[in-house]
Amino acid sequence: MRETVSESGPMASAPRAVLLQAVRSVWAISASTLLLLRPLVPKRLRKALRGRHKSMHVKFIRGPLHMLDIEIAKARGVPYVQWYADYKDREGAERPFEDPSVQAIYQSGAEDVEICRRFGLQPHSRLHEFGVGKGRSAQHFVSFLDPGKFSGNDASENQLRFCRQRLDALGLTATKQPRLFRNGDNSMAWLNGEKVDFIWTYAVFTHMPLEDVRAVVANARHMMHGPTVFLASFCENAEQTVERYTHKDWLYNYACFEQMAAENGYDLEDATEHIPAVKRRRDYLRFHRERLVKFTLKREIAAAGADAPRAGGAP
Ligand SMILES: C[S@@+](CC[C@H](N)C(=O)[O-])C[C@H]1O[C@@H](n2cnc3c(N)ncnc32)[C@H](O)[C@@H]1O
Repeated sequence: MRETVSESGPMASAPRAVLLQAVRSVWAISASTLLLLRPLVPKRLRKALRGRHKSMHVKFIRGPLHMLDIEIAKARGVPYVQWYADYKDREGAERPFEDPSVQAIYQSGAEDVEICRRFGLQPHSRLHEFGVGKGRSAQHFVSFLDPGKFSGNDASENQLRFCRQRLDALGLTATKQPRLFRNGDNSMAWLNGEKVDFIWTYAVFTHMPLEDVRAVVANARHMMHGPTVFLASFCENAEQTVERYTHKDWLYNYACFEQMAAENGYDLEDATEHIPAVKRRRDYLRFHRERLVKFTLKREIAAAGADAPRAGGAP
């Protein structure tokens, strides 16, 4: 298994990191102290202060502290995806596979196979999942597909640990030989030139900054051939802007995916209507709509070979 979470990033800056660390400590103490006064603040004012966030704690303590952690990491030369993978690893390190909060994840995911089947997925199709997480959808993809037809990657080792455990528990590792890569470099080059029929990525772009999403969309064509269908979900901002909503959540709009498609030689289709109601009810983020887009290679790009050098300088 290749383990290549990219280490490249801005030049390390020790004094900046130290300064940010000091700001973090001051913020942690003063915001926590101020928040003790919360019961004295009228409920309506608390709601106004919290705005679009789940709680005052998230808005004024957890969110800003994580943002400072990300800046400290950046000053030390650690790119965002590495910070995020470490954060996911820390978050899940203590949690056993049997924990109800982990097991609850496995109640859904079958609908993702159904979505792909509407676009022609068959047991002999080759599918790669970008950002498998704990294996919520992967368990169903692997079960549906023929042996050796599923591969997936994730930036977080801990997420992959759960995913492997789930596939083992279902007996699918031995019978279906899924391939899992720990990888957060957005290069989409881990299959050494192998082409797939489907690329699936759900609830992953939401946790990626725009430049990383752009890299994945641009690089996906290394895995694509003429008929490949690349399905990706994103959270659409009700205000139709691209916005960093929290330290780890981004809201996008359809227009930015149209631009990425145009820049990289894809046709883009809105596939949101294929998201079943069960998913649309999920209120993971407030003030958003979950959307699904379908990228396919433009006919002339597919004919020239998806890996052919592109005019306009795309990688
Ligand atoms: C909310 S989970 C979704 C998991 C799964 N797709 C699902 O639908 O249940 C997001 C996952 O994406 C992974 N991830 C985020 N950015 C990534 C990147 N740049 N490369 C690989 N994995 C990434 C995270 O580690 C996390 O496991």
